Amino acid sequence: MARLRFLRSWLLVGLGFAVGSLYVTLWGHSSALAQGGGAAPPTTTDVQHLKDITPPMSHPMVDVGFNVTNLYFAGQKKNWPLANYYLGETRNRIRWETYLNPGPKGTDGNPVDMKSTFDGIDNGSLTQLKNAIAAKDSKQFNDSYKHLLEDCYSCHKAANRPYLRPQIPSEVAQTIINADPNASWPQ
Ligand code: HEC
Repeated sequence: MARLRFLRSWLLVGLGFAVGSLYVTLWGHSSALAQGGGAAPPTTTDVQHLKDITPPMSHPMVDVGFNVTNLYFAGQKKNWPLANYYLGETRNRIRWETYLNPGPKGTDGNPVDMKSTFDGIDNGSLTQLKNAIAAKDSKQFNDSYKHLLEDCYSCHKAANRPYLRPQIPSEVAQTIINADPNASWPQ
């Protein structure tokens, strides 16, 4: 019952959003027509507002640090499904970073192609790590994890951030998720 009510309220929110968007679209269209085509360009204030509410470009990387730390401890506890989850999260966040900041300046001042740098890592150490998790192989996990950190660092150096040198984490990043694969509570 509670679930139904929850669904219904989301449906209403969704509907409201759809109607609102339609209204904005129609309104934009008719005012563009009234002006003889071409919607009014965004003002400097609009652009500044968008800049102010955009999260910093380093945001996904903060998440990467968190997820890749959790990945390490899940692997040490041989909690392979959890390790696999954090590997996916790590991968998604790095990819997101390459969308947000696709060409940061390298050491020579020219933009570095983040997407192809990441593609290499995705097909290299990240895939090795995924295979180690699938094989439940702790030794391969530790070796591939080190390779991954070396690859993180090679991208940081390419992006002219040599001071961002990763290390094997010494402490868990969070304690709310239990990494123990044999935990019995909550059921
Ligand atoms: C494709 C390139 C690339 C890869 C791969 C990459 N990073 Fe980054 N990382 C960056 C860039 C660029 C920044 C700087 C972000 C900015 O300032 O916009 C950064 C910043 C960071 C930061 C600092 C975030 C902050 O501002 O507090 C951490 C932590 C980090 N990376 C961790 C990692 C780890 C760990 C890995 C590997 C699992 C990794 N990164 C892989 C490009 C990369």
